[in-house]
Amino acid sequence: MIEETLRVQAPVANLPLRYAVEDIETMGVTIKKGDAILAAYAAAGRNPALHGEDADRFDVTRMNKEHLAFGHGVHFCLGAPLARMEAAIALPALFERFPDLKPAVPASGLLPVESFISNGHRSLPAHLSGGTQPTG
Ligand code: HEM
Repeated sequence: MIEETLRVQAPVANLPLRYAVEDIETMGVTIKKGDAILAAYAAAGRNPALHGEDADRFDVTRMNKEHLAFGHGVHFCLGAPLARMEAAIALPALFERFPDLKPAVPASGLLPVESFISNGHRSLPAHLSGGTQPTG
């Protein structure tokens, strides 16, 4: 579940402030030395060439959940094992403590963080217990 979430909703969506230090030829495109590069980590997780035509569908049963949510190469996230461990401990604890946890607003009512770097919601209202399941 954690890997599929990172694949479909990468928390660091895009990373700017990268510049080519030399000419780069890739897939028929030339990125000239000095050109600005935006690393679109979120897009990589939804690449149909890798994940098929339903790449943008959240599916915990898919075999290949490969993603770049923690980056790639020498700057690969140092905290990735910690982040994975925190999620694997905190989420089961949360659901065990609040088995009736429900969203308090429909998904369509959630407001995104105003950033093209961070992918998230400004708030995630929830009923810890009781409440009714919103629709939409
Ligand atoms: C779900 C949680 C997290 C996500 C999605 C995430 C994502 C990323 C990404 C995409 C990068 C690469 C940035 C780049 O290309 O330059 C990165 C780097 C980094 N992350 Fe994370 N991160 C997470 C949690 C953490 C945590 C918990 C820590 C520390 C406790 C951490 C520490 C770092 C550090 C130090 C770097 C820089 C590594 C370098 O430049 O060599 N991250 N992270």
